[in-house]
Amino acid sequence: MLLDLEFSAEYAEWDAITSLMQQAADAAEKAEGIAVNTCVHVLLTGDEQIHRINREYRGVDRATDVLSFPSVRYKKNQTARDAEKKLLSEYDEELNACLLGDIIISLPHAKSQAAEYGHSEKREIAYLLVHGLFHLMGYDHMQDEDKQKMREMEEKALSDIGIGRITDEELIEMARNAMQNAYTPYSHYKVGACLLTKEGKVYTGCNIENASYGATCCAERTALFKAISEGERAFQAIAIAAEKSLPWPCGICRQALNEFAPDLRVIVACGTQHQETTLSKLLPYAFGPESGVLD
Ligand code: THU
Repeated sequence: MLLDLEFSAEYAEWDAITSLMQQAADAAEKAEGIAVNTCVHVLLTGDEQIHRINREYRGVDRATDVLSFPSVRYKKNQTARDAEKKLLSEYDEELNACLLGDIIISLPHAKSQAAEYGHSEKREIAYLLVHGLFHLMGYDHMQDEDKQKMREMEEKALSDIGIGRITDEELIEMARNAMQNAYTPYSHYKVGACLLTKEGKVYTGCNIENASYGATCCAERTALFKAISEGERAFQAIAIAAEKSLPWPCGICRQALNEFAPDLRVIVACGTQHQETTLSKLLPYAFGPESGVLD
């Protein structure tokens, strides 16, 4: 895919990400399986400019992470791979490619989202580019079913270049890093946890002990309560790391996690060892919101 990249003046030094963006664009094109040469114009800029474009062209008065303006109109239920003729009608002889459209990415948004999701800025920018590209190839996320299809395509492209969704190894690594902040003057048993939301965002936590021992909070609940208090409600996995033994979650944490994620995947790690199970195996016959306490 021909990537016509433009950096607004204040972000000129960000062009180190050019090669990853090219790889991401080629992977998206390959995942879709388009037979014709394609081209896209991408502007990487700040919040002020993306805000202005969003207001002028879409009537939405706010900055956002990514905008895409397709040049090709696809028929209902069609994507680029089914629309070769249509693509050829957009063919630019000079470029020797079909123009799919324009993408605008906010670099400050990419930066803050990367921090929020616990991955690199480069990865977030590649994700935003791939997301915009699938829009230009006819995908949308209005209905759940379409959203799932679009996500699958994004994942296919991103994992092709080694930056797919967060792996268990990365989750364990983040739990280990969180463990460094454990406050454990009494037990000296440090624990770190990393909770992964269904959307792919991570929340970490460590154990925090107290002179009144019973006031201690485990790493899992620290991570869970941080996430819940930020508005999260749906989780897919938790990694828990400790230095001295595999930190199977205690009964209170099993109960607290069950409230929101009875199907949670649970990974425990210590040194080079790790094991995986599910919360429903750790807490059979659970008492939870479904047990008739809701009304
Ligand atoms: N702890 C956790 O943080 N998570 C677990 O899964 C088990 C236990 C903490 C609580 C306390 O600070 C220390 O480990 C020893 O019990």
